[in-house]
Amino acid sequence: MPRPNKPKKKRKSSATSSLNFSGGPGALPQEVLEQASEAVLRAPGTNQSILGISHRSDYFKAILQEAEKIFRELLDIPADYHVLQLQGGSSLQFSMIPMLLLRGKGNAAEYLKTGYWSAKSIPEARLEGAVRVLYDGEGTGYTRLPEEGELVYDPQAAYFHYVSNETVEGLQFHYLPGLKEVKRVCDMSSDFLSRPFDIKDFCLVYAHAQKNLGPAGLTLVILKDELLKDAPNNLHSMLDYRNHAAMGSIYNTPPVYSIYVTLLIARWLRDEVGGLKKMAVLNEKKAKALYALIDRHPEFFRGHAAKKDRSQMNAVFRLPTPELDKAFLEESIAAGFYGLEGHRSLGGLRASIYNAVTEEDVNRLMEFMEGFRKKHSK
Ligand SMILES: Cc1ncc(COP(=O)(O)O)c(C=O)c1O
Repeated sequence: MPRPNKPKKKRKSSATSSLNFSGGPGALPQEVLEQASEAVLRAPGTNQSILGISHRSDYFKAILQEAEKIFRELLDIPADYHVLQLQGGSSLQFSMIPMLLLRGKGNAAEYLKTGYWSAKSIPEARLEGAVRVLYDGEGTGYTRLPEEGELVYDPQAAYFHYVSNETVEGLQFHYLPGLKEVKRVCDMSSDFLSRPFDIKDFCLVYAHAQKNLGPAGLTLVILKDELLKDAPNNLHSMLDYRNHAAMGSIYNTPPVYSIYVTLLIARWLRDEVGGLKKMAVLNEKKAKALYALIDRHPEFFRGHAAKKDRSQMNAVFRLPTPELDKAFLEESIAAGFYGLEGHRSLGGLRASIYNAVTEEDVNRLMEFMEGFRKKHSK
């Protein structure tokens, strides 16, 4: 697979566009944006725009296969797991998973309802069979995650589903919930590839691209081959993982451009960052600095999540009044920041510091926050 010319510029936080702190689509590294925009005019080694490259070409197959190879390297994925590059977003996985694992089964699936996104996944599963909710944080405003000892699991459950990082509320698991003997399924949409994890602890992991992986349009599903052995035979063909696995993720026309940009990100993570351990160190450092600022002024920056469950990807907070939240947003846009509004279901503010947000970007945001606080504190 031909590579683009090495970018001349290293990523600086003085990117020409505003700094993207949005919950998603998230920031992408400047060098990847440059390579991606060059490929729109001419894909490396071709006379064709990447947007016009056939999904049946060897060129595209090489893109897809190289992306898969790098994911396998980064996460040390064993051969008995499929790596599927699908469409339909993470929301479609809310349905495809229970179609595969719950349809026609006698035992209930177990779900944790820890925030906006896990709450969305539960009604979809209920269309396919019985669901037991082991923890429901809605009544307490999704401000914390369950403690390890608080959850009573059934070793006979059809599977166990949770969301590792609740993007809206900024809650992230810092331990592995679930039982060893029950199929563990995880929505990692907003923290996938931000830190290492052992894929062998999971039967199925899914993550859409538009946080840490690339542009919207692609959803990565990593699943254990043995799950497909008892797939029901009444699935629509596009909703049957077996078809996607058999066709190497080219069952129908895949999102060629999203997959191409995701390959660029995968290379960036491996070659520029140096892998997931290094990525985790950088992410930890950024989050620590940002939360330290929030904690220095708790009367002004009011964090949403319990400290022990804070997300290293999404820092969710409010200011003392809704008027101040509004002023913060307006002034942040004028100062060159993008996407700091909280999710529409929660309001307030959210700073999403995904992989491609640099330490320097976070420092600039913190300077802005500190300046805003001084200006507006009584
Ligand atoms: C954790 C999580 N799961 C699922 C979704 C839904 O993803 P999609 O819009 O790709 O369907 C989101 C959206 O941001 C999310 O953050």
